[in-house]
Amino acid sequence: EVEPLKERYEDSFEIGAAVEPYQLEGTHGEMLKHHYNSITAENVMKPINIQPEEGKFNFEEADKIVKFAKENDMKLRFHALVWHSQVPEWFFLDRKGNPMVEETDPKQREKNKKLLLKRLEKHIKKIVLRYRDEVDYWDVANEVIDEYASNDRGLRESKWYQITGTDYIKTAFKTVRKYAGEDAKLYINDYNTHAGQKADLLYNLVRDLLEQGVPIDGVGHQSHIQLDWPQTDEIIESMEMFAELGLDNQITELDVSIYGWPPTGAYPTYEAIPEEVHLAQAERYNELFQAFEEHDDIISNITFWGIADDHTWLDDRAENYNDGIGKDAPFVFDINFNVKPSYWSIID
Ligand code: G3I
Repeated sequence: EVEPLKERYEDSFEIGAAVEPYQLEGTHGEMLKHHYNSITAENVMKPINIQPEEGKFNFEEADKIVKFAKENDMKLRFHALVWHSQVPEWFFLDRKGNPMVEETDPKQREKNKKLLLKRLEKHIKKIVLRYRDEVDYWDVANEVIDEYASNDRGLRESKWYQITGTDYIKTAFKTVRKYAGEDAKLYINDYNTHAGQKADLLYNLVRDLLEQGVPIDGVGHQSHIQLDWPQTDEIIESMEMFAELGLDNQITELDVSIYGWPPTGAYPTYEAIPEEVHLAQAERYNELFQAFEEHDDIISNITFWGIADDHTWLDDRAENYNDGIGKDAPFVFDINFNVKPSYWSIID
């Protein structure tokens, strides 16, 4: 048996994995218990799964993950309360079934905004009251920044934004705080948060929200990264910026794709991935974890967006963009759950 990742880093931060409920059993389940002390739902806690129809809550799948975390004494990250993706359409329809975004009458628009915020509050209240004793970290708002947005603050022009402005973000955080209590840890989560334009936009938003008394405890950095992008320094620099605001940092969705974006030049099969690519990845992981460890005072949790190479969202991406070619290999365990050079590079 190889050394558990969680023990290697027990003095620094928690080590987590994102999972689907089927992965709580079999070898996946054993891997989880051995290597990880934190867990996140890859999909089943998103609005589309929890409240597919208004007022009809479905906690069955989410409960499985909550139970597993409890039984195995693992931290639990809730992902995610508000997101522009994987949210059912009914949230954004007015009482007559018309799309709220198309409403032009100012009075009706105001009513729609109230209705949407009410729905959001109800969604969050129900979840928080059910899970507040079990959840350690809440991904309250996910991906609210879009550096390509046409507004100058880089606010993602999702339906949430078009209907409520930034009120949906404020309502979300305040509602979690109200029902989960002062000790709950609330995060704003995003991708490409390494130092640069997007980090600045996120920073400005978070600073403004904090000034307005919005309860935010930390920033979640998804960290879907590549072999040579972005620079490790930029990842650390960004976390330092947020730490200066008094916030915690967590790496919430780590994976190191062996491909660029879009995933061109892909290898025909997993077995065909050259050893030098595995070694390059090991070097990348080594550099990252060394930097994380050196900055463990500003990072509390590092979560991989999966357990082993057999199951990764990056493969759907290859399917969509590269005719199904390009099985990715983003983790430190291979498709048979064996350790890769990347494992040794973060253990030694
Ligand atoms: O559950 C249905 C299934 O019933 C259906 O037969 C099948 C056919 O396509 O789809 C299944 O749903 C898929 C779901 O994953 C569960 O497997 C969705 O199509 C698919 O879009 C969805 O992808 C997820 C994606 O978020 C959605 O945008 C990925 O698994 C998940 O890894 C990914 O995670 C996101 C984070 O939440 C936020 N940050 C980025 C990250 C990667 O995109």
